[in-house]
Amino acid sequence: AGQFAVFGHPISHSLSPRIHQAFAHQFGLELGYRTIDASPAAFATEVRRFFAEEGRGANVTLPHKTAAFALADERSEAATRAGTANVLTRLSDGRLSAHNTDGAGMVRDLTDRHQVDLRGHTALLLGAGGAAHGVAWSILDAGVATLTIVNRSPEAADALADAIGDPLRAHTRYWEDLADIGSFDLIVNATSAGVLGKSLELPFALAGNRATCYDLSYGVAATGFLAWARVASARYAFDGLGMLVETAADSFELWHGKRPDTEPVYAELRKIYG
Ligand code: ATR
Repeated sequence: AGQFAVFGHPISHSLSPRIHQAFAHQFGLELGYRTIDASPAAFATEVRRFFAEEGRGANVTLPHKTAAFALADERSEAATRAGTANVLTRLSDGRLSAHNTDGAGMVRDLTDRHQVDLRGHTALLLGAGGAAHGVAWSILDAGVATLTIVNRSPEAADALADAIGDPLRAHTRYWEDLADIGSFDLIVNATSAGVLGKSLELPFALAGNRATCYDLSYGVAATGFLAWARVASARYAFDGLGMLVETAADSFELWHGKRPDTEPVYAELRKIYG
């Protein structure tokens, strides 16, 4: 049966089927989990077809997270804050519920797996698109002292800061000011530059030697930012592979009512991604 799926475009290289199968194996569950490649134009129709036929739950990845949020009948607080969803679940009455586990997954990866206590950190968020919206509130909830949002186009950064509505802790600066704004304890790359094969020209002074640098992506998309972090002598440079496994665990628990052990799955994937 194909009761679960991940929607994306492209989607063929998605790790989600492998991660969910590994989780299911921990509980001796038989799981139907497949990839569904849907163009943006076909996404809503494909989602409705999937849930009308057999679907119980779907993960949603690029470029559909905003569309997934929009088509749902009800939305969790995390999804509402982000304006995007990475999980769709069919409720017993057939309606679709949207949730976003990205921020919680990222913070759990940092604090539990990597043992970084974010409380009191000064944080810099690079980017203000969908990915940045997905993690911004969770970073604040983790107890950072301040969150500085910097985006190439300042309007998007201002819109995110306005949506957060906590001007004493969350504020924006211009991308051009990156050379002059000192250093941060936490630097999160939430831009899509790496995914697009572009490099960011970031001043090394941003990363003090206590800095934790975190890229929301993994694989080749993260190599540029992580190389920058190492040259900048940051204390830690992490990619988003652990976040991916944690976000998958949250959706698995939502659907199956069981909490998988993420560590062996993460360790297995880490062998591939170095
Ligand atoms: P995603 O869902 O991956 O966040 P998105 O919503 O399109 O994708 O957002 C992409 C983000 O990466 C934006 O913040 C974008 O900046 P702009 O708003 O100025 O477009 C940022 N971004 C993409 N390429 C970039 C680059 N080469 N340099 C800096 N920022 C970049």
